[in-house]
Amino acid sequence: MMKIAVFASGNGSNFQSLVEANIDASIDLLVCDKPGAYVEQRAEKNGIDIFSFSAKKFPSKADFEEKILAELRQRNIDLLVLAGYMRLVGPTLLSEFEGKIINIHPSLLPSFPGLDAIGQAFDANVKVSGVTIHFVDAGMDTGPIIAQEPVKIEEKDTKEDVQRKIQALEHDLYPKTIQHVISQWQRSVN
Ligand code: GAR
Repeated sequence: MMKIAVFASGNGSNFQSLVEANIDASIDLLVCDKPGAYVEQRAEKNGIDIFSFSAKKFPSKADFEEKILAELRQRNIDLLVLAGYMRLVGPTLLSEFEGKIINIHPSLLPSFPGLDAIGQAFDANVKVSGVTIHFVDAGMDTGPIIAQEPVKIEEKDTKEDVQRKIQALEHDLYPKTIQHVISQWQRSVN
């Protein structure tokens, strides 16, 4: 069975939806760059190992990514799933997991990359935003798109309404898409 590490920085609602979904893989590690973030409690409740670190305590990204790599290798992790990991992945992780890192972003990329994508879309008064799932490359929310679905923004919607709709879509689309990628890989090796 494939082994997944989920990377997250905050609440972890996407982490939770992945844990609860019936994915044909095991989630063996949470990597968290915000010690004390709520996602850590979710991992604990589900008996999932946690590697928690504070970037400030390392001289460089390469140094903390080396530590992450050691945790991943120790568990024979096959796939990295970013779920609200608010940090660019550096060459240390990218070179070892090329094509095996997936991210979710709450907009229709390439529109509204970066921080607070939902707020950016709301402030721009767009009528449609959505969710994008993509393979990770060295850029900020770039890389080949795997799945993308729209969300309608109505005149009466508050920013919180938009956030609720987008997150509901994320919780459905992310597990489905990860399962799809895994099934494709399984077919290609069999
Ligand atoms: C999600 O909406 C995810 O798409 C976003 O962070 C949120 C995390 O929520 N990611 C990005 O903006 C990446 N650029 P969660 O902690 O409740 O899963």
